[in-house]
Amino acid sequence: MTSTASPSRANPGASVNPNDDVRTSPLILGLGGTTRPGSSSERALRLALGEARALGATTEILSAVDLALPHYAPGQHELTPQARRMLDLIIQCDGLMIATPGFHGGPSGLLKNALDYTEELRDEPRPYLEGRAVGCIVCAAGWQATATTLAAVRSTVHALRGWPTPLGVTINSSASSDAAPDPISAAAPQLALLAYQVVSFARWQAGIGSTR
Ligand SMILES: Cc1cc2nc3c(=O)[nH]c(=O)nc-3n(C[C@H](O)[C@H](O)[C@H](O)COP(=O)(O)O)c2cc1C
Repeated sequence: MTSTASPSRANPGASVNPNDDVRTSPLILGLGGTTRPGSSSERALRLALGEARALGATTEILSAVDLALPHYAPGQHELTPQARRMLDLIIQCDGLMIATPGFHGGPSGLLKNALDYTEELRDEPRPYLEGRAVGCIVCAAGWQATATTLAAVRSTVHALRGWPTPLGVTINSSASSDAAPDPISAAAPQLALLAYQVVSFARWQAGIGSTR
């Protein structure tokens, strides 16, 4: 992929985005969910991506089945086509949303392993997740794990030079009430705000107009 190697005009301080010259709508990449049928974290991710599309973004999703990659071992194996596809989408995207369950107080091994593959992007014009807003979504069966997992995911995003959005969405997937029987639907306003923050930052970074 070629690089324009120049910051956008709208944001002279922006990091280099190899897609600046072709993008008319920000590309937001969703990563996450579990292989469980009806995965709550995948549902939340899809809802947030739908909100991003409503804001004019283009979206792609790699759900758990797409993220089931061999255990990452630096330099020890050829990248699978699945891993290559994920890395290509990360290179191209203007923003991300990451959704994980809380597994024993932290993100799933599947998601963390997928994120470890971004080490392959260390020499890219935009290394790792540089210059990208990352909306983090956590579903767990209790509030304590939602909080610890969100902190862990944000720490990883920071390490990868991404920009966690001010709002992270935590959903207690076991908390339903008569008023709100579906915890994912109940979190729709927060997921919409998360989408707004990701898309707004992506537009600003890429210099491609304001969020509608
Ligand atoms: C291996 C495993 C570990 C889990 N650990 C926790 C935990 O520490 N705290 C918690 O609140 N929920 C825990 N859960 C529950 C999940 O976080 C919760 O069911 C979540 O909604 C699952 O996401 P999904 O619906 O996308 O599959 C665990 C579930 C599994 C399968």
